[in-house]
Amino acid sequence: MGLLGFLVLVLGFSSSSYGAISQLNSRLIASISRKGPYIGIVVPNSFELSPLLQSPTFVLDHKFPYFDFAGRRFRIGKLENQKVIIVMTGLSMLNAGISTQLLLTLFNIKGVIHYGIAGNANPELQIGDVTIPQYWAHTGLWNWQRFEDGPDDELALESSGDYTRSIGYLNFSSYNNNTKSSKSVSNLLNNVWYQPEETFPVNSTPEVRQHAFWVQVDNTYFEIAKKLEDIKLNGCVNTTCLPRSPIVTRVRRGVSANVFVDNRAYREFLNSKFNATSIDMESAAVALVCLQQRTPFIAIRALSDLAGGGSTLSNEAAIFASLASHNAVEVLKRFISLIV
Ligand SMILES: *[C@@H]1O[C@H](CO)[C@@H](O)[C@H](O)[C@H]1NC(C)=O
Ligand SMILES: *[C@@H]1O[C@H](CO)[C@@H](O)[C@H](O)[C@H]1NC(C)=O
Ligand SMILES: *[C@@H]1O[C@H](CO)[C@@H](O)[C@H](O)[C@H]1NC(C)=O
Ligand SMILES: *[C@@H]1O[C@H](CO)[C@@H](O)[C@H](O)[C@H]1NC(C)=O
Repeated sequence: MGLLGFLVLVLGFSSSSYGAISQLNSRLIASISRKGPYIGIVVPNSFELSPLLQSPTFVLDHKFPYFDFAGRRFRIGKLENQKVIIVMTGLSMLNAGISTQLLLTLFNIKGVIHYGIAGNANPELQIGDVTIPQYWAHTGLWNWQRFEDGPDDELALESSGDYTRSIGYLNFSSYNNNTKSSKSVSNLLNNVWYQPEETFPVNSTPEVRQHAFWVQVDNTYFEIAKKLEDIKLNGCVNTTCLPRSPIVTRVRRGVSANVFVDNRAYREFLNSKFNATSIDMESAAVALVCLQQRTPFIAIRALSDLAGGGSTLSNEAAIFASLASHNAVEVLKRFISLIV
């Protein structure tokens, strides 16, 4: 195709509206982006979003306060005097990935801050504490090994590079409780092997995959996060107070998957195998999109429950989710006031 043909194609496309982005919307997006760059704020659910929207230091843009697209609302405004675009993703990895990619595709975003609540797998921390992990992994991409195969047997499609035994596995029979009978039990569920995500970075050759398991947050953001460790946080819900005042702390690792973990054995596995502190359902998805789009990223997650390690009667999230959401927003606000 000659240059003329190419121009006709480009102009022909831009003057019609066959794509999902109408002419009106692309003009709006351009006007919004011209006022950028913005910090993108990505938040999973409405109970985590509300305390941010109610914050007096959040002000909606008077001209373009919202942009609704693909079932998401992008809120445009200022938080602590920083230009921000906020998007609520909805639960889980797919929603978090879609919303983050839309945010980065549509707007002029210089960095992404993700925040919310999380389960806690780290026995040294307490509900209400706010964690900032340095690394995130998606721990929901598995290769489930056939019955009777073990660590010495190659996984299906391993030789083609699709899967690996380098990250390790969960052995279901380590968790069998055979106290009622001493008869041996077959471990039909055998082992699941954790797999890295396939990634396609924006500045690499399309369709040539790379792999990522641990995704590191932005170094500069992580340095800045050190300054958050002196924030004083609320430790009481009505008259029920936590044993000590909540702290803000940078930790080594967080993990995410499409799994709500309310199970002591799996919580302990995630901590012993991966040194995980925060367990959630979105952060690693946001991290993986930002990694591929080469956009600085950090996540702030407030611990709302012990992921099954607490009381046998209930998961504590019901009592402490609102305290944790508020604490996460307090830390987010301080963080955003510190970045340039
Ligand atoms: C799984 O765990 C069981 C019980 O701890 C052990 O006997 C078995 O060797 C383990 N299998 C593999 C494949 O690691
Ligand atoms: C195994 O199950 C029995 C009966 O349900 C229970 O009493 C016991 O505490 C369990 N053991 C472990 C290690 O969970
Ligand atoms: C595990 O994480 C903690 C912080 O959460 C860190 O102090 C420790 O060095 C880590 N351990 C390993 C083996 O990486
Ligand atoms: C705290 O008090 C408010 C207002 O009285 C009530 O609606 C809420 O359920 C209470 N929360 C807890 C966890 O007790």
